[in-house]
Amino acid sequence: MNIDWKSLHTAAIGAMRNAYAPYSKFPVGAAASTTDGRTVVGCNVENISFGLTLCAECSVVSALHTAGGGRLAALVCVDSRGEILMPCGRCRQLLYEHGGPEMRIAVSDGSIPLSELLPRAFGPGDFAAGQQQPG
Ligand code: THU
Repeated sequence: MNIDWKSLHTAAIGAMRNAYAPYSKFPVGAAASTTDGRTVVGCNVENISFGLTLCAECSVVSALHTAGGGRLAALVCVDSRGEILMPCGRCRQLLYEHGGPEMRIAVSDGSIPLSELLPRAFGPGDFAAGQQQPG
């Protein structure tokens, strides 16, 4: 699949400008491309109860489903300077659910599959396999 990384980067910067980050003063923006060619964006939304903060990637996942769902193909995450930021551990798991191991994540010198950021991941397939049958 052909990803327009430049447009995704621009969209991530636009989203970052809407971040609500009064506590950390660390605005983050993310933009993802869906497998059917749509773009979904998100920014971090902090809370005075710090642990409740929503990361930008979390907002991307919400935007994906708000827009009707689908699968994520590629993501760019940026900091206030527009520099590439790597998704935190929790966000790697969130992205895995909606993009799978082949989803591409922008790094400073290109992109890598999500499987490199979350190797040997626990995913929906494992859950189905280990679930007990009724009765
Ligand atoms: N943050 C994100 O939005 N995404 C990440 O992957 C890393 C961290 C946000 C959370 C918090 O609002 C701020 O960056 C500082 O940690």
